[in-house]
Order: sequence, then C-alpha cells, then structure tokens
Amino acid sequence: MKVLFAASEAVPLAKSGGLGDVTGALPKALNERGAEVRVVLPKYADIPESFLEHFETIHTFSFHFSWRHQYCGLLRGVVGGVTFYLIDNEQYFKRDGLYGYEDDPERFVFFNFAIAECLPHLDFVPDIIHCHDWQTALLPFLLKTRYAFDPLCRSVRTVFTIHNLRYQGVFGQKLFQDLIGMDDFWFWTSGLEFHGAANCMKAGLQYADRLTTVSETYAEEIQTEYWGENLDGVIRWRASELQGILNGIDTESYDPMNDPALETPYRGSVSRKRKNKTALQRELGLPVSEQIPVIGIVTRLVEQKGIDLIDRVLGDLLDEGIQLVILGAGDYRYEEMLRGAAQWRPEQIALKLGYDEGLARRIYAGSDMFLMPSKFEPCGLSQLIALRYRTVPIVRETGGLRDTVQSYNEYTGTGNGFTFASYNAHDMLHTVRRALAHYRNEEDWKTIVANGAKEDYSWSRSAKSYMSLYSELLPLRKETER
Ligand code: ADP
Ligand code: GLC
Repeated sequence: MKVLFAASEAVPLAKSGGLGDVTGALPKALNERGAEVRVVLPKYADIPESFLEHFETIHTFSFHFSWRHQYCGLLRGVVGGVTFYLIDNEQYFKRDGLYGYEDDPERFVFFNFAIAECLPHLDFVPDIIHCHDWQTALLPFLLKTRYAFDPLCRSVRTVFTIHNLRYQGVFGQKLFQDLIGMDDFWFWTSGLEFHGAANCMKAGLQYADRLTTVSETYAEEIQTEYWGENLDGVIRWRASELQGILNGIDTESYDPMNDPALETPYRGSVSRKRKNKTALQRELGLPVSEQIPVIGIVTRLVEQKGIDLIDRVLGDLLDEGIQLVILGAGDYRYEEMLRGAAQWRPEQIALKLGYDEGLARRIYAGSDMFLMPSKFEPCGLSQLIALRYRTVPIVRETGGLRDTVQSYNEYTGTGNGFTFASYNAHDMLHTVRRALAHYRNEEDWKTIVANGAKEDYSWSRSAKSYMSLYSELLPLRKETER
C-alpha cells in the first residue's frame, strides 16, 4: 500500500506545532506496519542544511496555474528512514518561518498544484494521497476537477485529516479564482464558496474520499454548531465518512531516558526527575527548590489554548506558592500579558517567548504538572508528551484532552491527571488547587504518576486504524481503474 502524505510541515524538517509531529511520526509507524508512506513538503528556507545534504533534485520544470507560470523543483531524500519529497520554488518558500505571509493563499495554492504536477515525476505511484489541514486541502478538489483527465490523478484515492478546524484558508472569491483559474461556474457549483469567499478546508471536506480528525471527541464536537466553525453542516453531511483517530507521539523521540536535551535521563526514578526540575529552575533563574511545585506550559499563544483563563486568576494561582514556567509564541496580546506577569512576579514566573525545542523538552521533564486549559483542542500532543515525561497533566475536558486524560479519583485510585469541564477560570483554579493537595501527599502522587506511566502513547493503536482505513479505500481504486 503506497501512501503519499501531503503536508505543510513534518518533523524533523519543519514544524510549527502538533501537525508537524504527526506528519513526521505517523509515516514511520505506518511503514513499520508494512505500508510505504512518503511525505511531500515545501522546501522552506528553514529546513536545516544538515538535512538538505540528503536530498537530490530529481526533476525540474515549470507549469501554469491560472495565468501564472512558475518554476518547480522536485527533490527527493531519505531522513530518519522516511522518504521525503520537497517542492522547490524560491519565490514562495525561501523565507523565514512557515506561514504568516500576506500571500499565503498563493503560496499554498501553488503547493497543491505543484503536488498534482509532480505526481508523474515521483519514482512512486501512490494508491492514496493523505492530505492534512487547509494547506493541502485543495488537492482532493484539483485531482477530481482540473486534473481529472489524467488517469493517475483520477484514480488515486484521497484522505483528508482535520487537525484544526479553526484554520480554514479562507480568501476572497476574486483572488481564489485568479489563483486557480477556474470560472464562476466552478466557484459556485464546486461548493468551495463560503459566505461569498472561498474556503480551502471546505474543498478537502467535500472532495476527499474519506475524512478523519485527530480524536473521537473532536469528531463529534465539530458536527455541532458550537464547535463546527461554520462548517458543521458540511461535516454532518459527510459524517458517515468521518472517523476520529486519536494521535500518538513518537515515543522514541520523546523518551526521557534518551533525550539529548536533558542532562539527567530518567524513567521511573523520582530523584532523577527532580534533578531535571532543579536544573530547569536554575536555567530559568527561578529560586531552586525541590519542594516548590512547578507547573509547565509549552504552547502556541493563541485563543484556543485558554490563556485567558490563566490571565483571569493569575494572582490566585501564584498565591498557591507555585512556580509557572511558560514557553510560547503567538498573539501579541498574550505575549504582552505574560511579559507583564513575569515582570510582576519574577520569582514565580519564568517566561520564554519564542520557539525552542530543547527548552520545551526540559520543561516537560522538569515540571511536576503541565497545564493545558484549552478552549478547544482537536487532540493535543503536549499532554501526551507530559505523561511520557511523568509530568501530571491538568486539562480542560475538550477534544483529545478529554480522550487522553482522566481525572484522579482518590477513592478508586484511578486517573492520570486532573480535569475540569467548563471554560471557567475558577473551575481551573479549583482543579489546580486539587492537584496541589494531592501533590503534597507523596503516596497519592506516586499513584497518579504511575497510572500515567502505564499507558501507551505511541502510534501503535492509531496506526492500525489508519491501515484499515487505507485498505477500505484500495478496492475503490481497483473499481475505478476497471
Ligand atoms: P498545537 O498543534 O495546537 O500547537 P499540540 O499539543 O498538538 O498543539 O502540539 C504542540 C507541539 O508543539 C508539541 O510538540 C509542543 O511541545 C510544541 N510546541 C508548542 N509551542 C512550542 C514552543 N514555543 N517551543 C517549542 N515547542 C513548542
Ligand atoms: C492541531 C491541533 C492539536 C493537534 C495537532 C496535531 O494543531 O490544535 O490539538 O494535536 O493539530 O493533530
């Protein structure tokens, strides 16, 4: 079974969040189960030279999309046992970072066209193209319309995974038509129309053969008006072809026993984990003490992540005598709020703004608890990484957080963390207080940490689900070929 992952990020080449973790780790897990999965990405300037050394150019050409005529280079290389293809166009991708440019619509429309154009030039004929999030959501549409004359494009099956329904790639009708070069007829009847604008995510939702999202709860949530981000109607319409498959993490990469970012590797040893805690306090200039509970946060600083709740009760939280260690980057208003807070209580808040893979890992290792009060959370990987590093998650019961963290029950001794239901700052505060009370009871804490350590956060279970999904699609292809 040959599968091409079309994505805008994948570790270790490029990552901005959990999407990159998934598209980097899942191919490995699927390949171990007998699939042949390869990944196509844009050739961003940020991809480290040490990886590019493994790539060679296998084809160069130029093609038209709409009135534009653009160069396209196709590179191929193997990194960490996975074959990657890179789409090269310096005008679009030789820039800092991955996203956030005014011409992102044009950059990613180009990327979708380029993947379709490159298909005949890959040394690989995929049975399935698996697209991820809005940046590659146009591909199922293009394959079934603009490229339908091509037997390969017509017969390849597509899977579209929603990692986050909030980001849809919505842009003006005029711009969209100018980019894809299809007339009004296509715009309206294709169903890509979205309140007078065009919506890339909607293209994936309508044209992919099968849909998945990254947890069972989120698969239910997005069918409701409240969580559906104005696409719940389309999602309900395709509900029988939508499946929630929970993400896993790369347990080899996220392994506290074998993580180059940590000075003191550990697994079950409480004292070795504490060495990571004091090292973290030292690194970030906090008072060094094994007794002070450290709560870690590693996150994109956006509305989704529930930073507003922290803002609302910050004083009360700090009055509990905790240290907060925060690593994040994102919206100016959250960065400003946190900067102010860190200046206000420097002995209790350590803040690093920016993206730092090594520090993230030292926070997962050095914290006692990990706070994730998300407003919504399709899956969430941070709580899984925290559990893997024996750090107790405190989360809101939404999306994948609800599917992976169970609140500790002192009567039955079950549960791997602490949870609260309402998006309410005082419920969060109360839950942190509850966690702190159990933290002070060494026996309770041992039980909670042990409960978390028992579980399997690897891709093994979910990779099986993707394998059966792909096999259900293969007979479809044979039929259309006949
Ligand atoms: P999302 O994809 O919504 O950002 P996830 O929990 O699925 O949330 O995944 C986030 C991933 O990105 C985790 O691997 C987390 O450690 C990492 N991450 C988030 N922010 C930062 C940051 N500022 N520096 C380093 N890693 C980060
Ligand atoms: C998105 C979601 C996150 C999920 C990740 C990987 O970024 O916000 O919840 O874990 O994708 O699927």
